[in-house]
Amino acid sequence: MDAISLLHERSSMGKLVGPPPSPEQLEVIYRAALRAPDHKELTPWRFIEFSGEGLDRLGELFAEAEYRADPHIGDAALDAARKKPKRAPMIIAVIAKVRPDIPKVPKLEQVISAGCAAQGILLAAHAQGLGAMWRTGHYAFDATVHKGLGLDEEDELVGFIYLGQLAGRHKPLPSRDPADFVERWS
Ligand SMILES: Cc1cc2nc3c(=O)[nH]c(=O)nc-3n(C[C@H](O)[C@H](O)[C@H](O)COP(=O)(O)O)c2cc1C
Repeated sequence: MDAISLLHERSSMGKLVGPPPSPEQLEVIYRAALRAPDHKELTPWRFIEFSGEGLDRLGELFAEAEYRADPHIGDAALDAARKKPKRAPMIIAVIAKVRPDIPKVPKLEQVISAGCAAQGILLAAHAQGLGAMWRTGHYAFDATVHKGLGLDEEDELVGFIYLGQLAGRHKPLPSRDPADFVERWS
């Protein structure tokens, strides 16, 4: 797939099955993530890769977050939280490892950079015929989840990228006209 087609046609896939991406595919994926634009080369990125029992551990963390938010929550809702990470054979959590002490690179820029790293993961997955979906849900913003994943105070959990083999068809691409989004000063 040529680069422009990839940029024009990348699409998310929520229906994902195993096997997880191979070590070779992951190397390609992480190298793409590490080419995110990065003001002052802070490399404000951290990735946590979950597969196998790691997905169960993440599910337990999601359930703990639900329980802490509402100790009266029922077993069914806790089970649903536990199962969320099982929607794919692999998840990569993308974390903005924010340095608050760099005056010329405000937090927003560092978080955007991590978002670009996440997009790099999506693009590299798509280019290799893998399926991928960026999810946050409320867990990405939950203090229990942040603590469990070892985020520092200023860090942000930019998203969970679900990865795997395609188990469905990509939905049709939306038709969007650049003219509707672009204003030209010339
Ligand atoms: C920061 C961010 C968080 C997202 N979180 C979710 C989510 O929690 N659940 C979800 O269904 N889609 C979520 N999405 C949207 C999907 O990843 C996807 O972009 C959307 O379904 C459109 O599909 P497309 O990427 O093929 O255009 C999120 C997207 C972004 C950028």
